[in-house]
Amino acid sequence: MPKKPKKTFQTLKGTYDVLPQDQKYWEKIKAVLKNLSLHYGFSRIDTPVIEYADLYTSSVGEATDVVQKQMYIFKTKGKDTVALRPEGTAGIARAYIEHGMINLPQPVKLYYIGPMFRYEQPQAGRFRQFYQAGFEVIGDKDASYDAQVINLFIKICYGIGLKNLSVKINSIGCKQCRSGYRSQLLRYYRSRIKGLCSDCKKRVKINPLRLLDCKEEKCQPAKINAPNIIDSLCKECHDHFKLVLEFLDELEIPYCLDQFLVRGFDYYTKTVFEVFLEDEHIEGGSEKTHKRSSLAIGGGGRYDYLIKMLGGKDVSAVGAALGIERVLDAMKQQNARVSDLQKSQVFLVQVGELGKKKSMKLFDELSSAGIYAMEAFGRNSISSQLKIADRMGAKISLITGQKEAIDGDVILRDMETGAQEIIPVEKIVKVVKERLKK
Ligand code: HAM
Repeated sequence: MPKKPKKTFQTLKGTYDVLPQDQKYWEKIKAVLKNLSLHYGFSRIDTPVIEYADLYTSSVGEATDVVQKQMYIFKTKGKDTVALRPEGTAGIARAYIEHGMINLPQPVKLYYIGPMFRYEQPQAGRFRQFYQAGFEVIGDKDASYDAQVINLFIKICYGIGLKNLSVKINSIGCKQCRSGYRSQLLRYYRSRIKGLCSDCKKRVKINPLRLLDCKEEKCQPAKINAPNIIDSLCKECHDHFKLVLEFLDELEIPYCLDQFLVRGFDYYTKTVFEVFLEDEHIEGGSEKTHKRSSLAIGGGGRYDYLIKMLGGKDVSAVGAALGIERVLDAMKQQNARVSDLQKSQVFLVQVGELGKKKSMKLFDELSSAGIYAMEAFGRNSISSQLKIADRMGAKISLITGQKEAIDGDVILRDMETGAQEIIPVEKIVKVVKERLKK
């Protein structure tokens, strides 16, 4: 006797199965992503989910939460320190360098979809294995590409069927203007450190810019009057940002400036943005206001130093990624239109050995004619098969018993009325097609 297992297995915390009923959402997202990305000149790339851990420390940043707390990192048997990718941009930058894409016409535009891994505390919209769809434009510093990435992002969301999107945007400047701003910020926070949360006390030392996006209540009073980074931008960064906004205006993409948006990774320069859903309509007196959900459905920005930091040439880039789980959740909340993957309306019922053989052949003929059929070939009783047909929403059942099999006929049963008629098997595909059209 095999031993009874001690426990039943379940998914790891923060991971989940994509069940058949959700596949239609995934297929829609993938189809829209592919279609629009190709239209905008992006080619698909797939990179491994596992990379040398250094890739992320050198790009996302040693001091970031993702690297410090959230990375799945381990030593292989060959003593390499590797990590499951926490995000897609670093791997794509690595691939750009490794495959000499600098020699292709620039910019190189790439899109991807796949799983990412972050050891976070799971909660609504936050998983340990989650999926991102993203796009990167590598090899051009022109502000039009910042706007194009945002435009594509928004187009994909609308294409998927989402409504009420809002874009928050900021510029965090380049090395030059950011260093001046950092000093200014540190001077501002010097007398305010005592009142900050423990994370912000650390941020003052290792990553002062992140003081700006702390969500802790006790850090808000200090934050609110912090110097605005926009006032510290050098001329080039200022002009770049102005142009990005002008392009967005031209594309009629509404946005709101957010001086506190800095994003979590070290590789960003200049433009940073996030997209939210304003999906909660709140009636307030005569005014209708929108409340923004606190989780971004996606975000991105420019990363002009990353390729060089990873050993490549001095090449500018910009990109964005959207979180599939959050998008999928929004699709359900907003009742986005999604069609079923298999529109099976025909159920094959069989009785007896010969009936089953003929039914299996008919199944193939229907499939070749592009008609999806359902069956329960393991069952023998007509009534139990008809019950299943009913539960599965079949419009028509095609019954082949011993007699029909010998006579070369099929019984067509209208599942709504229960009316039955005998049809010669050679005509059945044509008749089914006609009935399904009605
Ligand atoms: P990110 O903001 O870290 O950016 O992630 C992008 C999106 O992925 C988030 O806005 C969110 O929707 C989703 N996401 C992140 N973490 C989780 C999680 N634990 N569970 C569920 N969804 C999550 C990046 O990753 C950058 N690589 C984006 C980028 C591309 N920047 C330039 N190019």
